[in-house]
Amino acid sequence: MITLKTVRELRAAIARTRGEGKRIALVPTMGNLHAGHIALVEKARQRADFVVASIFVNPLQFGPAEDLDKYPRTLAADQEKLLEGGCNLLFAPSVEEMYPGGIQGQTRIAVSGVSEGLCGATRPGHFEGVATVVAKLFNIAQPDIALFGEKDFQQLAVIRTLVRDLNMPIQIFGEPTVRAADGLALSSRNGYLNDEQRSVAPALYRILCDTSAALQAGERDFARLCARGLEALQQAGFRPDYLEIREAASLRTASPEDRRLVVLGAAYLGNTRLIDNLSVELAGD
Ligand code: PAJ
Repeated sequence: MITLKTVRELRAAIARTRGEGKRIALVPTMGNLHAGHIALVEKARQRADFVVASIFVNPLQFGPAEDLDKYPRTLAADQEKLLEGGCNLLFAPSVEEMYPGGIQGQTRIAVSGVSEGLCGATRPGHFEGVATVVAKLFNIAQPDIALFGEKDFQQLAVIRTLVRDLNMPIQIFGEPTVRAADGLALSSRNGYLNDEQRSVAPALYRILCDTSAALQAGERDFARLCARGLEALQQAGFRPDYLEIREAASLRTASPEDRRLVVLGAAYLGNTRLIDNLSVELAGD
């Protein structure tokens, strides 16, 4: 696996690979890789001939009070994991390489609709930062396919919409969330939790499972279900941000006729914000 740091080098490597007739996959990340990221690389291997991963802690998607400076940077360990996962090329640019004109004047992409509400409400500008950097990575690497985790369900919806609205010739795959044995979704941010918080953390997923079970059992009072979920989060020791039931494909507010739903939750343990979600397929009436 080679590591490249400049757009020019990456473009040259991609051109060579394309010349060999290979199908190219891109897996964008911010590094500090865990088994969830590596599962994306392994899936990419199955779906394409040449796997490019990127590691870039994107300043544009962090709010002023967020963890940009303390976001873990673990390049050497990440390179080993990527190699084991079957990655062919790592693109790890600097901030200057990605934003040569500076961050302030950077052209930005706002994906309307799906960016609003949920995490978009708590993190203003976040999805604009994500859509902008992902569009840049797509333009730089020009992959045939790109893979993202369902763990960041709203992000996946933003990227699908970006690709559709801007006619990007890239197929997007959403892959299942990889969890610890106790149900906690793997996340770089889990490393911020102390022992006590780590023991509380799996309750987020349990509460999403309880909400899903109530939906499966026929409960359709979504407002009441969400209120109950928020209450349960609080009881468990979280400071809840949101717990909502949405229609899975569009992310619009769910109505009782919808069959494909997703329950999404975000909650704080100390200063650490955890997110998770669970898709629910209801049988037809
Ligand atoms: P990051 O948080 O590093 O995540 C990179 C990719 O890994 C995303 O597609 C995310 O959904 C996926 N992922 C994270 N945890 C996962 C888990 N437990 N199981 C499966 N997949 C998981 O998301 C970002 O970076 C950035 O916003 C990015 C898209 C790279 C743009 O900067």
